[in-house]
Amino acid sequence: MSYDIALLPGDGIGPTVVDAAVPVLDAAAAANDVDVETTRYDWGTQRYFDTGAMMPEDGLDRLASFDAILFGAVGHPDVPDHIPLDGLILPIRKRFDQTVCRRPAVLFDGVRSPLRAYEGGDIDILVFRENTEGEYADVGGREHRGFANEVAVQSAVYTRRSTERIVRAAFEAATERSGHLTNVTKSNAQAHGMVFWDDIVAEVSEEYPDVDVERLLVDAASMDFVRRPDEFDVVVASNLFGDILTDVGAIVTGSMGLAPSANIDPGNDHPSMFEPVHGSAFDIMGEGVANPLATVLSGSLMFDHLGEEAAASALWDVVADQLADENAPRTPDLGGDSTTEAVATDLRGRL
Ligand code: NAI
Ligand code: MG
Repeated sequence: MSYDIALLPGDGIGPTVVDAAVPVLDAAAAANDVDVETTRYDWGTQRYFDTGAMMPEDGLDRLASFDAILFGAVGHPDVPDHIPLDGLILPIRKRFDQTVCRRPAVLFDGVRSPLRAYEGGDIDILVFRENTEGEYADVGGREHRGFANEVAVQSAVYTRRSTERIVRAAFEAATERSGHLTNVTKSNAQAHGMVFWDDIVAEVSEEYPDVDVERLLVDAASMDFVRRPDEFDVVVASNLFGDILTDVGAIVTGSMGLAPSANIDPGNDHPSMFEPVHGSAFDIMGEGVANPLATVLSGSLMFDHLGEEAAASALWDVVADQLADENAPRTPDLGGDSTTEAVATDLRGRL
């Protein structure tokens, strides 16, 4: 099969990791009879500086005809953080109905967790994060700027459609995995949206009698991601809570540079988008040492979504193989001193 993939490398380490990962994806595709055509769009903060917009006005229309999107990261030290997000990534997730954000957090063999008790294979969590609404809905306002009575309102939005979609995706995954699902909310303090969310979980759970549902409040869940990460399997959470928990999941499994993610339109009406969990990493940008593995693993999730299982496993397995090899190059986040390029070149050799 042949696929048209849009590349949006973005800012900071985004282009570093995307440019390193794409040849690895190409090699895995070629070895498995998959044909990939990429089109690169340099949309991001540089474009914002030049034109006042992160992407062209018809940017979303241009992306609509692709089979999938591979995204790097956005964010620039001289621009308030909400501008790149609101100008590029959030509109893509929302307009393309990418309700289901799927984020694995796996402790690979050969990777050291900052938690003493765990070694490769011990942690394997799959977080489902609602990705188009919740706390990240663009609903609110500010009044009386600069005055003593200044007020800001930021509302969270939970629709039955999207909540059912994310919850159902999590139950489906739990059915295929261990049958254990953790529902993370804050229903004690947010009695409207989060209790509605719990009601949807209870409704959908009737369709999945074999899945056992554990309930956790997000503060306790954050603690337990550190205290007992090995006991989690599938986790479902709102947009904000899923965002926070997946950074915790990334670091307890070794590095932000290893955490992939899939933003999926469950209706398949629009392209889905695949991206590392991390951002543009101001502290290491321009140094050529960003870990490209999160992006390569995101490529694996992309091929899996496209139905190209052989290419998907090839990518996942080659990353696992490299991490398990103590003589393989590693970027500094994993304790090594290799460059992004050296890691990617080694992966291509292994493929
Ligand atoms: P970040 O994820 O960029 O960095 C957090 C820490 O993880 C830093 O110490 C960084 O060096 C490290 N790190 C991240 N990716 C790495 C990689 N591939 N290899 C090695 N180390 C890596 O989060 P931060 O610092 O909060 O945000 C920086 C900018 O990125 C901000 O403008 C933020 O808004 C934006 N951001 C964008 C996202 C996106 O485009 N999807 C997601 C998260 C943040
Ligand atoms: Mg995040």
